[in-house]
Amino acid sequence: MKSPFKWVIALLFVSATAAVPASETNLSRQAAEYTPNVSFTLKTAIGKFGMAFVGEGGAIDGVINPELHVKSGDVVQITLVDGDGAQHNIFLPDFNAHSDDITGPGASTVIVFRADQDGTFAYFCSILGHRQAGMEGKLIVGEGKPVPVMSDVADISRDPTDVPPPVGDRAAKTVHVDLDTVELRGRLADGTSYNYWTFNGKVPGPMLRVRLGDTVVLRLSNEASSRMIHSVDLHAVTGPGGGSSLLQVPPGETRSMTFKALKQGLFVYHCATPMVSNHIANGMYGMILVEPEGGLPPADWEFYVMQREIYTTGAFGQHGYQEFDVNKLLDEQPEYFVFNGAVGALTKNHPLKAEVGDSVRIYFGVGGPDFTSSFHVIGEMFDEGWLWGATASAPIRELQTVSVPPGGAFIGEFRLEVPGRYILVDHALSRVEKGLAGYLEVSGDSNPEIYRSGN
Ligand code: CU
Ligand code: CU
Ligand code: CU
Repeated sequence: MKSPFKWVIALLFVSATAAVPASETNLSRQAAEYTPNVSFTLKTAIGKFGMAFVGEGGAIDGVINPELHVKSGDVVQITLVDGDGAQHNIFLPDFNAHSDDITGPGASTVIVFRADQDGTFAYFCSILGHRQAGMEGKLIVGEGKPVPVMSDVADISRDPTDVPPPVGDRAAKTVHVDLDTVELRGRLADGTSYNYWTFNGKVPGPMLRVRLGDTVVLRLSNEASSRMIHSVDLHAVTGPGGGSSLLQVPPGETRSMTFKALKQGLFVYHCATPMVSNHIANGMYGMILVEPEGGLPPADWEFYVMQREIYTTGAFGQHGYQEFDVNKLLDEQPEYFVFNGAVGALTKNHPLKAEVGDSVRIYFGVGGPDFTSSFHVIGEMFDEGWLWGATASAPIRELQTVSVPPGGAFIGEFRLEVPGRYILVDHALSRVEKGLAGYLEVSGDSNPEIYRSGN
C-alpha cells in the first residue's frame, strides 16, 4: 500500500465518495444533482503566516486565502487538498456546505453548493483553532455586498456597568422591584438574530440589589404581545419554587409576591415556567445581590457579567434568523456560548473599562442552562473572591480560575497594576471559538517593574 499509485487510486475513491455523501441533508442531495459551473481548488498550508488555504490554478494560483468570486446562482465546486498533513476541512455556514475532515498529505475532499444569495461570506476550516490561526477567506457572490448587520434588530446585550448603587449602611426596609417579561427579536451576532425571551428586554435581566432583612415586593408583568407564560424563581427567596409557585403570569397580566431576604450573597434568578431550560436558554435569567448589614466594601468599578449557552438550528456563524433547537438543548450540544446575551456583547458593544490603580469587582453568574463555567481573567488573578457568591463566608485570597455552576455565582475582585487588554473567558477555551469572550480595557501608565519586555 506504500506505492504512490495506490495512494492516488485510494484518494480518488475517497474524493468521489466524499463529493456525493449518501446520508446527507436534502441540500447536499440536491447539490449532488447539480452540475458545477465554477470550480476552485484550495490547498492547505502551514507556514510563517500561520495556517491558510492557498489557491491552486487560475486567477487564484498561489494566493493565500483567496477571495472566490462567483455569480449569483452559480453552482460552486471547491476541492480541498491537504498540503501539510494536518487535519482540515472547509466550511461555509451560510450555504450549509461542510466538507469531510481530511488528514494526510494529498488527501482531498469536495463540496458543491449553489450560491443562492448575494453577499460576502466566510469560508473557513472548522477544526478547533484553525480559523483563528488564519484559515479563513471570503466567497463573494454577485456584487458581494456585505451581509447586513441587521441594524433593525434590537441590541439585547446587557451593559456590564448596569449595576444598581450599593445599599450602603442603612436599616432593613421594604423595597419594590418591577420585572417585565419581554419576547423580542435580538442580535445574536453580526448578521444573525434570535428570538430572545428576556426580563426587561436585555440579557441577563436587571441586577437586583437589596439588603439582608429587606422585605421585597416583587411585581412581574408579562407583556401582552408575549406568546408564553413566564415566571421568576429567585434563589434568594425562601419558599416553594422561589417565587415561581406564586408568579406564573399569562401574557398581558401582572402578579406580585412578597418575600423576606433571609440570607446574604449573590443569587441567580430565572424564569421557571416549563420547559424551564428552554426559558433559560432563550435568555430569562439574572442575579440578585443581597448585601450584608453595612453593605459590601466599596470598589471603584462593579461589573455585572453572566454566561450562557445558546442552542440554534443553524451552525455557529450562520447568518440570518436562527430558530431555537430543542433537540440540541436536550443533547446539550450548544452552537453558541456568550457573555451578556450575544456574541461581542463584552468585546465590541460594551467592553469593561478601568484604569491602572482602580479596584474592580465582578459579579459573575451562570444562567446555563447546562454548562458550568471555569471563569478566568487572562492576565489577572483575583486578589479576593467569594466562592459561589457566599458573602456570609470569608473570601478566598489569590485565585486564578473559578468553577461556577449553572444557577451559581461568584464575586471576584482585583486591583489593576498594568495597562492593556485583559480577556474574560471560560477556561474551557473551545468556547471562545463559539463566541465566549469579554474585554477589560485598562488605561494608564505602564508598570515595567511588574511587566515588561526583555530583561
Ligand atoms: Cu484546518
Ligand atoms: Cu419564561
Ligand atoms: Cu434555579
